[in-house]
Parts: sequence; C-alpha cells; structure tokens
Amino acid sequence: MREYLDHPRLHVARAKGCWLFDTDGNRYFDGTASLWTNVHGHGDPDLDAALRNQLDQVAHTTLLGINHPSAAALAGELAHLTGGKLNRCFFSDNGSNAVEIALKLSFQYWQLAGKPEKRVVAGLTGGYHGDTFGTMAVGDSGGFHERFAPWLFPAKHIPAPVHVECAGKVAHSDATQSLAALDAILAAEADRTASVILEPRVQGAAGMVQQPPGFVAAVAERCRRAGVHLILDEVFTGFGRLGAVTASSVEGVAPDFLCLAKGLSGGYIPLAATLTSDAIHDAFLGRFSQQRAFYHGHTFSGNPLACAVARASLAKLRPLLASGRVAETITTLGNQLVSHFTTHPNVAEVRQLGLTGAIDLVPRDRNRRWPADLRVGFQVSLAARKHGLVIRPLGDSILIVPPIVATPDEVRHLARALHAALDDILPGLESAAVPLH
Ligand SMILES: Cc1ncc(COP(=O)(O)O)c(C=O)c1O
Repeated sequence: MREYLDHPRLHVARAKGCWLFDTDGNRYFDGTASLWTNVHGHGDPDLDAALRNQLDQVAHTTLLGINHPSAAALAGELAHLTGGKLNRCFFSDNGSNAVEIALKLSFQYWQLAGKPEKRVVAGLTGGYHGDTFGTMAVGDSGGFHERFAPWLFPAKHIPAPVHVECAGKVAHSDATQSLAALDAILAAEADRTASVILEPRVQGAAGMVQQPPGFVAAVAERCRRAGVHLILDEVFTGFGRLGAVTASSVEGVAPDFLCLAKGLSGGYIPLAATLTSDAIHDAFLGRFSQQRAFYHGHTFSGNPLACAVARASLAKLRPLLASGRVAETITTLGNQLVSHFTTHPNVAEVRQLGLTGAIDLVPRDRNRRWPADLRVGFQVSLAARKHGLVIRPLGDSILIVPPIVATPDEVRHLARALHAALDDILPGLESAAVPLH
C-alpha cells in the first residue's frame, strides 16, 4: 500500500481497441487485457450496440426463480460450446464465484447421491481459483492467501507438471510425478474425494506455468475411472486466450464442471458461468420437502446487460478464431518473446502458450539474487508505461496477456516496449543483487 500511495497513479480516462488513454492523453497498449478479460478490444462497436440494445429492454432483473431471454440464449450457446455435454448453466458474476459454485455443487451432489463422505478436493500446486474462502482453500497461492490458512478447509495439492514452451519449442515437459501423485490419492481415497480442480494448460496467476498437452485428458480419464468429479477452471484460459474458445475442447475433455468468467463477457461487465451435465443437474430435483435444491444466489447473477454483451462477444469470437488472425498474433508473440528475451542476460526463462507469456527476471550473475524489497518486476512495469505499455509483474516475473484481438504489430510494440523497460531499469540494479546463499 505504501508503494501504491507513493507512486504516480495511472487514471485511464478512455480506451479504444487495445489502447488505453490516460487523463493527460498518453496512450498505452493494454498488456494485461484489463486483467485478462479483454477479447475484442475496448469500445467494440458490436459489443457496444448489444449493450445499448439490451439497455433499451431491461438493465437488470433477477435469475432467482425467473429468467430473461439473454440469459436463456447465452446458456444455450455455452452448452453448444461443450457439444451439449454440459447442458446446464448456473450464472454468477465473477470467476471466484464460478469456482465456489462448482465446489458447492460437487459437495452437494455427493450428499444427494448418498455419499456424503466424498468431501476431499485435490488441486495443483500453484493453483489459483479466486480470493473467496473456498477458492483460497483449494488453491495454492502462497503469499496471496497464507495469512488466511487458519480459516481454510483442508485440501490436497498435487505437484503441477513441468512444461516450458515458447514459440512452439518445448524446453522441458514431464507430468510423471504429477500423475503419480494423483494416482496415489485416488488409489488411497477416491471414496472420500469429491473433486479434482485445475486450470487447464496454463496456471495464469502462478506465473503462466504450463502443462504438457494431454495432461488434462490424462487427469480426466483418471477422475472418470475413480468416480471423482473434474472441475476445470477456464476463467483465464477460456475465450480465445489459448487460440480456441476453450482449452478443454482442444484437450478433448468435457469436465463435470466448467468454470467461465473474465473473457466470457468480452471484458465489459462482470459475468460468470458454471456449466454442468444433465446427470448432475437431475440429482438436485425432488419434492420441496426433500430440500435437494441448490441454495446459492448472487444479486447480479446473470445480469442481462452482461449476458447480452457476452452473446455479442461469443458471436464475434468464433469467426475471429476461424480467420487465423489470432493464430498469427500468437505466432508473432512467441517469435517476439524469443527474439527479445531468450538470450537476454537478465532473463532466466521465457514461457509462451497462446496469448499468454511470462519472462522471469534475474541478475546477470546467476549466483546472485535481488532482495524482494527492490521490487524489480514492479519497477520494470512502471518503466514500461514510459514506453507506452501497461503490464503487470508477479514478483520478479512479468506477465504478458494482450487482448485476443491484438494484431501482430501490436504485440511487436509490446515486446519492444518491455525490452526498453528492462534496459531502463536492470543495469542500475546489478550492483544491488546479493549472494544467493
Ligand atoms: C484461473 C482463475 N480462476 C479464478 C479467478 C478469479 O476470478 P475473479 O477475479 O473474477 O473472481 C481468476 C482470476 O484471475 C483466475 O485466473
């Protein structure tokens, strides 16, 4: 908070396409896609029109016990994304809630199925699923959540697989340990395990930590055989981020619960959805006195404006992906990260998959490290603003998340601006590094 108070604040007054404009008229490429949400750019005419049209109908009406046409249509379109395998949609208003809902639905399902002892949840090390208590419990975000550990229900954590890829070249890839740990949990306590939860292919908030292709399918198959739910958290990876509408479809996996948010509404308005199957849905049916209903409601769940803009965004996303434009930007991003950073003396590792990237910064002398209070990533991010780029650090790593609609030229600008920010900051910090041990 001291840093926040002491450093110049950036006020975004307006935005167009992939560019943010501050109150002084300076422009910045939106290198965080407005916290990983933006799909078609800011001020997209079709999304704006959908919003205005919905505004002429109704701005908000509840989904508690009644419905509205935009939510009903969107639910059908989302089910279609899963080939009809996940036909049931529970709307909410942010990614954490989408995951909380999946967890609670899974817990309640096992109770209704006469197996209340199935309560354990297993996630991946480094997993991030949100900041509410349930999502903190099943996540493993170290510093973000440690302080709240005494209040969190216990969960198991399987070591995340190792995979390092950039521009299609794989430096390391190994899921053996991870799958062996999952096998051990399922062999010992499948009858007490409710669900396995993971972010497919890329764990964003862990620092764009990647998984080998096929890993999600291998986990899904194990869950299916053991009778354990699989919850896929595609809050970050959905809606074009990895070059397809969902990462799970590329992996050929239909989970028991699919959590969507962020890009779902194009980055315009809070909206989230938890998709599940008819079979799971039907377990919640019964006479009133049986109390099988799922009690979970947020005031603005499935807001009509959000649903309308989500439908417009989804309608544009499919042709955008099919046009090959996103694939071209992905290729350019990978090549740019290779040419600017793989041989940079201050970069220990570069990761890129789809429109996600990370560079890990270290002193040139690999026997030294930077003290945490130097806030190297933060300093680099501030310097990037001078080169027309808004970007966010995670410790001494820089996370790269352009809007899905970004052009090859725009990601070239991103890489150039980030490189210039490294050159501004890092030479002056070499002498501040301390011995590793
Ligand atoms: C994979 C994943 N799940 C859940 C969340 C939480 O979403 P929200 O911030 O909308 O609550 C995030 C946010 O970054 C995320 O990356």
